[in-house]
Amino acid sequence: MTQILAIETSCDDTCAAVLDGPRILSNVVSSQARLHARFGGIVPEVASRRHLELINPVIDAALEDAGRDLDAIDAIAVTTKPGLIGALLVGVNSAKSLAAATAKPLIPVDHLQGHVAAAYLEPDPIEPPFLALIASGGHTLLAEVREEGRFAIAGQTLDDAAGEALDKAARLLGLGFPGGPAIQREAEDGDPDAFPMPIAMAHDGSLDFSFSGLKTALVYAVRDLGPERTRERRADLAASFQAAVVGQLVAKLRRALDLGEWRSVALGGGVAANGPLRDRTAALCEERGIALKLLPFELCTDNAAMIGSAARFAEAIPYPRYLELDAAAR
Ligand code: KG4
Ligand code: ZN
Repeated sequence: MTQILAIETSCDDTCAAVLDGPRILSNVVSSQARLHARFGGIVPEVASRRHLELINPVIDAALEDAGRDLDAIDAIAVTTKPGLIGALLVGVNSAKSLAAATAKPLIPVDHLQGHVAAAYLEPDPIEPPFLALIASGGHTLLAEVREEGRFAIAGQTLDDAAGEALDKAARLLGLGFPGGPAIQREAEDGDPDAFPMPIAMAHDGSLDFSFSGLKTALVYAVRDLGPERTRERRADLAASFQAAVVGQLVAKLRRALDLGEWRSVALGGGVAANGPLRDRTAALCEERGIALKLLPFELCTDNAAMIGSAARFAEAIPYPRYLELDAAAR
């Protein structure tokens, strides 16, 4: 079972990829970000409808880029959870239809397993054991990976995800969507120490995260400044907020390294595309003499290659047993 067509539609990116084992033959992502930008965030119903329009062309493009037709594919993998339920259903139903029409096996994949499994892709795979920090728009967790295809959660967010916090902050500052890259750009001209932000969860002793207090701190800062001064101080606000998010992520990673005997670390999820997070994690790992796996940007944010990678360690369901298979929001 080496050639896999993978499909990912859990959020606002319509994605398909073809893999030969850990080798990516094609990886097509049609981002809906511009469509959702005018709403300041992802509108689930709009995302589902757009997935419906994009899914077939995106799958065709993935097969064409890989130079394969469907006959050459051994199994079809698809994200079944977690995510926006309507969005997931488009991918799941497309995968089921294609698999059933060709009597191929179907491999259901968990989106978070996908973010971790991105680290196994060639040309630069890493092998367990490693500690993975996965930070995206929907999730923030520290995962202990001791064997390929499995992880144990050492800590996770108790409220908002890191990317969600950045998206909300960007919206509050009028910086548009998606917020993470917008905050990073704006922060380049700002002073990260200009506005003190609470260092959440610094002293609780756990490996869990919390970002909702940070968001409240920003709401108060913006309210106290008023619209005009908020605009003037926008770069400082963005830099301070980003520093607090990155600071918490790195502090928890540091604590997790203190608690275990880890020799390598991997960063994943959309927020792992963040420059300051990559720099500070690199500095921490260098200080500890630990290897760091930084994924290329296109494998940090949502994509189907990571789903195809996770599929190699998941159970394939033979035709026609998957016809009843459903998607799940969580
Ligand atoms: O993994 P992903 O593409 O989708 C989910 O599974 O959620 O992550 C999207 C998140 C968004 O919140 C976006 O603002 C954030 O990743 N993001 C970034 C950067 N690029 C994307 N956050 C900080 N800095 C970036 N450069
Ligand atoms: Zn994701």
